[in-house]
Amino acid sequence: MSGNGLGSKNVRTSLENDEIRRMSHHYHRYGIVTVTDLIEAHTRQVVRTEAERLLQQHAERRDLRLETTGFTRRSMSVVPSEVIAANSELVTSIYSNPGLLDALEAIAGEKIHPCPKADEEFLITRQEQRGDTHGWHWGDFSFALIWVLLAPPIDVGGLLQCVPHTEWDKSAPRINSYLAENPINTYYFASGDVYFLRTDTTLHRTIPLREDATRIILNMTWAGDRDLKRDLNADDRWWDNADVSAASAIKK
Ligand SMILES: [Fe+2]
Repeated sequence: MSGNGLGSKNVRTSLENDEIRRMSHHYHRYGIVTVTDLIEAHTRQVVRTEAERLLQQHAERRDLRLETTGFTRRSMSVVPSEVIAANSELVTSIYSNPGLLDALEAIAGEKIHPCPKADEEFLITRQEQRGDTHGWHWGDFSFALIWVLLAPPIDVGGLLQCVPHTEWDKSAPRINSYLAENPINTYYFASGDVYFLRTDTTLHRTIPLREDATRIILNMTWAGDRDLKRDLNADDRWWDNADVSAASAIKK
């Protein structure tokens, strides 16, 4: 990395093989693993400051339901991918950090590639109002690294829930069937935690906020080999454009 005074020391590449093996096992079994220890505390702090700056300058509110996930809700402010890429050398340099990519590939057990869609590489979200939630969904691409930059107390909400080893059929998402037929794993992440998620086969959501409170995350997305061959033509990229055809307004 260059230009921002942050070098490869931002990412710890010296984790013991046993620790990477433990992370990899958890990731494959549950679709998710906490990887906070991969990243220096100082780096996590400056990423939080950077996300708060980007939100202050570029946040756009979203309140909608998405047809391709069975009309689950998206209520939050976002900074879209291309705005982040154009305005944060810090985020783009971490995204291409070789030490980070090596560690994530070791956990995933496969090659990871830069996201082929420029509008889906990055996303910053800020939940802020009572009821805000990122409703049940899957990702279009295989891998996400989520930086939980600011989290409310556990009793307020914002917890992550996951149903691993599930598949997204955009024309028949059958989310309630998956919930009825499988265990739901719930995770609390505190401010500063980072987790690695297999997004295309892990149905996931955040528990709605019980009251006005702030929850900020940065999402970095990568693709697997399998994703590079797929055709993505559904008009449901709500984070990029609130007026996509799959979105419908929230009726309170
Ligand atoms: Fe997600």
